[in-house]
Amino acid sequence: MTRHTIGLLLGTEDDWPSAFTEILRRLGPVEGPGGPHAFDVERITIEPFSLRDKPRYDLVIDRLAYWYYVPREWLKKVAMMDSVYLLNSPFTFQSMEKHAAYCAMMRLGLKVPETVLVPYKNPIDNSRYVYTAARYNQPFDLDAIAQKIGYPLFMKPYDGGAWRGVSRIRDATELHAAYDASGEMLMHLQKAIDYDVFARSLSIGAETMVMKFLPDQPMHLRYAVEHDFLPPDAGLEVVTISKLVNAFFRWEFNSCETLVKGGEVYPIDYANACPDVALTSLHYYFPWAMKALVKWTVFALVTGRRARLDLETDRYFAIADEPGMSYGEKLGEYRKLADAYFDTELYQDFCATSLARLDQLVLDWITGPDFDQLLVRTVQAVYPEHEHDQFIAHLRGLMELWVREETARLGYQPVKKGD
Ligand SMILES: Nc1ncnc2c1ncn2[C@@H]1O[C@H](COP(=O)(O)OP(=O)(O)O)[C@@H](O)[C@H]1O
Ligand SMILES: [Mg+2]
Repeated sequence: MTRHTIGLLLGTEDDWPSAFTEILRRLGPVEGPGGPHAFDVERITIEPFSLRDKPRYDLVIDRLAYWYYVPREWLKKVAMMDSVYLLNSPFTFQSMEKHAAYCAMMRLGLKVPETVLVPYKNPIDNSRYVYTAARYNQPFDLDAIAQKIGYPLFMKPYDGGAWRGVSRIRDATELHAAYDASGEMLMHLQKAIDYDVFARSLSIGAETMVMKFLPDQPMHLRYAVEHDFLPPDAGLEVVTISKLVNAFFRWEFNSCETLVKGGEVYPIDYANACPDVALTSLHYYFPWAMKALVKWTVFALVTGRRARLDLETDRYFAIADEPGMSYGEKLGEYRKLADAYFDTELYQDFCATSLARLDQLVLDWITGPDFDQLLVRTVQAVYPEHEHDQFIAHLRGLMELWVREETARLGYQPVKKGD
């Protein structure tokens, strides 16, 4: 038996880590090339480490390093020195954030709305800044930049995340108010897209789920359960762009935001190192996310998949630069590169053979009492007491819908059982 240890680097969340651990436990050993493989899951603690220490982990799912630099530096060490497989690697995310994703997508010919980066409003905290800025910073006309982009527009941090510092701006007064408030944040101005549909896609390894997103709703209502809400071409394009950006940057666990208007697909937010996978926000889509996470990690470990940190940008740029090729044809070629990077075919074969029992196993678990306890515990941890009943009923309703549809899809009657 080959044993693999999966490490979880966690902040405050407890819902998906419990779900992930439980599904792996129920799955048991998985048949691989050299015989059966078994998986242990551990939560990683923070402590001093020698750079030559050997880690206990074969794969790490990171939810912490985007703000906590002790684990971030540890991740760099284990990626570089010990070839630990990471979702995600700080080498791909620390230097490659939203701004880098915009640049890559524009270079590849995608329809990123017009975007301008403006220098800091306030001096940054560095003793060299005042002298350097006085000598080299050019004065600039913020109003003229905004007018050229056209109102309405968005002002938002170049690296983004969780809507921090994002504002929608209708005129010069709002423009200056937002810029004054931006302080030491580095900001983009971006043309607003007056979209028909907001599509949010969650990608985990070779899989992508595109969901209809309602950004103005409270958290628990943002993901609408609606199938086929995009015209088929636009749906395919959203999936392809998500896979393309993820393959390009070697991002394996990421959520992407696309605005769709009249069949045109505009990517606006493609770099989320720690995508939301909370049960309370994903609800109906939570089982899909947990299965995808289990399948991808098991696939990576059992097949000995190696992390690749070199970006091979030239292979993508060669397609972008092909003179006679249409946008659609380029997307088709990008998709081939992305599917090759994620070993999509091999992954699908692996899931169909070695993980064939996963769908029924997860359906049994979601139908049974253990999952319901997790649901109740999660609501109790997330919402104030007077809202518990309402949210438990809300979530149970959505999970029952998932169970009905999944039962029909699999043609399998779930067995309601506990442990
Ligand atoms: N160009 C745009 N056109 C229309 N809406 C936008 C645009 N940019 C951002 N938004 C809105 O602002 C929200 C936050 O912006 P986003 O770029 O996703 O930042 P964050 O990284 O903080 O999520 C988006 O979910 C969307 O609702
Ligand atoms: Mg966003």
